[in-house]
Amino acid sequence: MFTAAVLVSSDRAFKGVYPDKSGIYLKEKLTELGYDVVDYSILSDDYDKLKEKLESYVKDEINLVLTSGGTGFSPRDVVPEATKAVIDRDVPGISEAIRAKSLEITKNAMLSRATSGLKNKTWIINLPGSRKAVEESLEIIAPVLEHGLGILLGIADN
Ligand code: MTE
Repeated sequence: MFTAAVLVSSDRAFKGVYPDKSGIYLKEKLTELGYDVVDYSILSDDYDKLKEKLESYVKDEINLVLTSGGTGFSPRDVVPEATKAVIDRDVPGISEAIRAKSLEITKNAMLSRATSGLKNKTWIINLPGSRKAVEESLEIIAPVLEHGLGILLGIADN
């Protein structure tokens, strides 16, 4: 069983202006898919705090980290930057696939700056932030997650 963490970047969900729906969805869906979700956190759109949290996931060797939100154009949208500061190998195909398939649903998919990459035994994947966006995005990438993690952890053949 792979371990997973869900990290929501949202000033408003963090402050309780509205309840988080995307992170909860990811947590439930990952559990349903057989992942052991060991952390689910909501942080404000703060670069240092996001980076620190991502670093803690790497340190704890959490296999899969899905982030939600903070990938757009607002000056506070800094999840891709925090992710790039932590990873040392890019996984561009994942973000390319999410954008390409999502474009069939909404032209706004072009506006997500989401990225994905690896550090040690951890794979971080950024997803756009709405409940609808995370559902659509996870559906696109779910079929390849286990194979990628298996290779990363050395328990599957290429
Ligand atoms: N991708 C999918 N599949 N579905 C969506 O509804 N919304 C888009 C885009 N990607 C969307 C999507 C919108 S409206 C924006 S602004 C960007 O993701 C960035 O979203 P974020 O700032 O919540 O990360």
